[in-house]
Amino acid sequence: MTAQTEVFDAVSVIAAKRDGKALTDGQIDWMIDNFTTGAVADYQMAALAMAIYLNGMDRREIARWTAAMIGTGERMDFSGLRRDGRSLATTDKHSTGGVGDKITLPLTPLVASYGVAVPQLSGRGLGHTGGTLDKLEAIRGWRADLTNAEMFDQLERVGGVICAAGSGLAPADKKLYALRDVTSTVESIPLIASSIMSKKIAEGTASLVLDVKVGKGAFMKTEQQARELAETMVALGHDSGVNTVALLTDMSTPLGRSAGNALEVAESLEVLSGGGPSDVVELTLALAREMLTLAGVDADPAEHLADGSAMDSWNAMIAAQGGDPAAPLPVAQHTLDVPAAASGVLTGLDAMGVGIAAWRLGAGRERQGEPVQAGAGVTWHAGLGDSVTAGEPLFTLHTDTPEKFDAALAALDGAATIGENPQPRDSLILGRVSA
Ligand code: URA
Repeated sequence: MTAQTEVFDAVSVIAAKRDGKALTDGQIDWMIDNFTTGAVADYQMAALAMAIYLNGMDRREIARWTAAMIGTGERMDFSGLRRDGRSLATTDKHSTGGVGDKITLPLTPLVASYGVAVPQLSGRGLGHTGGTLDKLEAIRGWRADLTNAEMFDQLERVGGVICAAGSGLAPADKKLYALRDVTSTVESIPLIASSIMSKKIAEGTASLVLDVKVGKGAFMKTEQQARELAETMVALGHDSGVNTVALLTDMSTPLGRSAGNALEVAESLEVLSGGGPSDVVELTLALAREMLTLAGVDADPAEHLADGSAMDSWNAMIAAQGGDPAAPLPVAQHTLDVPAAASGVLTGLDAMGVGIAAWRLGAGRERQGEPVQAGAGVTWHAGLGDSVTAGEPLFTLHTDTPEKFDAALAALDGAATIGENPQPRDSLILGRVSA
């Protein structure tokens, strides 16, 4: 029987996966297509997502599921990009999401400053990790929604674009992600890998660097899980002609010294000025090196942070999207300092606690479409291994809605561990996966 003459129904596809069977190509194509058009009900797809969560999918199933999701929408093509008559290499980065993860902000203009096109199609945040677009929307005038023609023009003229992913890319994923979010089926390696890679392959970048987060603040809590996710995504990219590399990076501790929209833009500007927290700089440079190598550029990206080229590239990128790079960033109307409970050395800072506190203060949203506060969030005044003094501020909370302070304080309860012996932080980079 061929795929065309086979007859499918949602109940038997769900039952097959419930019973631990591998789905056929025909079953996968039929389910994704009919879910996208609405012929398969949300509750049926939710049941299948839970069966996949519990019983997994093999590599063939994941590849077919990803291809089927790509097939539900448009596929972009950047191969025609030119500058000064030369064809432009494209490269992109995707992070699986972390607290204080503002790396896209300094990384995109940094890589673009080497004459590479960086189409960074991003999303808004939901839950405890912030969204890149929410951060940039803290800049006066900046707009996330570009037409494809505007995006292509900006890539050719400026090099870097961070903008909203249009609804035409893998629409099945958008629908499925919303269901997974409310059915506790997000943390599944086949579903995460196919979700991320369907969008990235449809986006049309020639190469891709994945930042796969590991630790308490990440979807993947262990290095082994993160490696499996990374290997799955690298294989999907490779098989679709996208040269893909993944770094496994630590997300047990939040990145930098702030979580919150305008607060993270300010920290990114410090990095672009040649300063900033050492962990943010380390990760920005590690990812930039990978992206430049994939784009065929042999350079040390630290040079363009030091000489101002990356900052020039940022100013051009922000201005091209209507933003005023010189405008002061919004600040929250209320702040509250939280003192260290003891003197000693900061030996732990729980990424999840910090992320939830920032979210409760108004930096994130509970439901899609809600507004976020530009100035809200958390700053911490010590990094791992730094000395802290009892009674001195360890955190500062920022919000326009001070009635949220108590809920944020509850999330931070026990988030900081203070010990006696200095334990310098190891490298953030835990591993690398390539095809
Ligand atoms: N990001 C995505 O785009 N999809 C997932 O499933 C998880 C993180």
